[in-house]
Amino acid sequence: MTAAPHFPIRDGILHAENLPLTDLADQYGSPLYVYSRAALQEAWRRYDSAVAGRNALICYGVKANSNLAVLHEFQQLGAGFDIVSGGELARVLAAGAAPGRIVFSGVGKQGWEIRKALAAGIKCFNVESAAELERLADMAQEMGVRAPVSLRVNPDVDARTHPYISTGLKENKFGIDIQQAPALYRQAQQMSGLEIVGVDCHIGSQITEISPYLDALDKLLALIDALAADGIQLRHLDLGGGLGIRYTDETPPHPAELLNPVFAALQARGLDHLQIILEPGRSLVGNAGVLLTRVEYLKYSDVRNFAIVDAAMNDLMRPALYQAWHDVVPVQPRTGTRTDTYDIVGPICESGDWLAKDRELPLEQGDLLAILSAGAYGFSMSSQYNTRPRAAEVLVDGSQHWLIRPRETVQELYAHERIPPRT
Ligand code: LLP
Repeated sequence: MTAAPHFPIRDGILHAENLPLTDLADQYGSPLYVYSRAALQEAWRRYDSAVAGRNALICYGVKANSNLAVLHEFQQLGAGFDIVSGGELARVLAAGAAPGRIVFSGVGKQGWEIRKALAAGIKCFNVESAAELERLADMAQEMGVRAPVSLRVNPDVDARTHPYISTGLKENKFGIDIQQAPALYRQAQQMSGLEIVGVDCHIGSQITEISPYLDALDKLLALIDALAADGIQLRHLDLGGGLGIRYTDETPPHPAELLNPVFAALQARGLDHLQIILEPGRSLVGNAGVLLTRVEYLKYSDVRNFAIVDAAMNDLMRPALYQAWHDVVPVQPRTGTRTDTYDIVGPICESGDWLAKDRELPLEQGDLLAILSAGAYGFSMSSQYNTRPRAAEVLVDGSQHWLIRPRETVQELYAHERIPPRT
């Protein structure tokens, strides 16, 4: 079981910092996402201390958890932001982000998104294809500005993670083949709407070893040398996000274990003028959040037992989509109740609607459960499937808490729909 310091058990009840989770569930209902501000701050400090005194920028990967309160917290702590859509751009600006600390990633940037980002004056576009480069150059010229660009290269390394979240292999849709990158940089240099500022890669997510990063770094450094020989000087090197977290028994590296060899390699090659950018998402928020859910029914059969809870795949999609493991713990563990092996499933009409399988738990109907490590890609991937209002979100700080997103109402879910007249 994950021992999460900001979610301690006190007096037999799981807490978020100083607040009993039972109280929050009573006040706001379930399913409910609860985040610990101290956990966010601690995760940030791990990165911040790893880059202390260096020329580096940590750009939080917004997609992991894009609630304005979370974005504002990181903005206050000094983060930049890695965005992948015009929607995320609007969010980070609403949360107070400085445009000069925003990098824009993604394979399919649309015209309106590029225009908004150019108008805002972001730090860098991480460009993923020749076609995107051309569109960006044209639009910048039209607007009378120069677009700062970095090519996202695909270094063809195996991040050794789940295939759906591995992005640095040739067969993935992401990035520009590193062999083709020098020619494209030369082309970019000729385009008056562009200003080359960096190089970028992102090889995957939930990565639990350093070696794939260092393999990618070697390839990027060789590219940087080749570009320098062509007279192309870069200002930054962005290694993307991807550091993993502990869901069960993983032992992911501390950011310093990644960054120390990176800084050493730059120094060894006389490249320490390059700013290092990272785009961590999961490792900043994943273990700062839990999803609370209540047992509606227990159902027993010869082959399987089910705990049917009020959260479902629409609230937390990771198990259904990646067979992801999340620890599940009773918020107020029972003594004297029979322990059985349960599949924890939701009310949605799909067999894939499960949150956890084969868990030995002493359960009774009405019990409150916490699904752990749900701060990343939990709420942000949630949907309203089966016309289920999305969960509420609460941020805890010591003994205080704030509702940072109320539960949606059923009426809101169809408020924008229209019934056409009968003809
Ligand atoms: N930068 C880029 C360009 C990315 O595509 C991503 C994530 C990140 C940064 C942040 O990566 P992180 O540090 O969070 O690993 N929904 C999946 C994860 C998808 C990751 C997509 N890209 C999951 O729930 O496991």
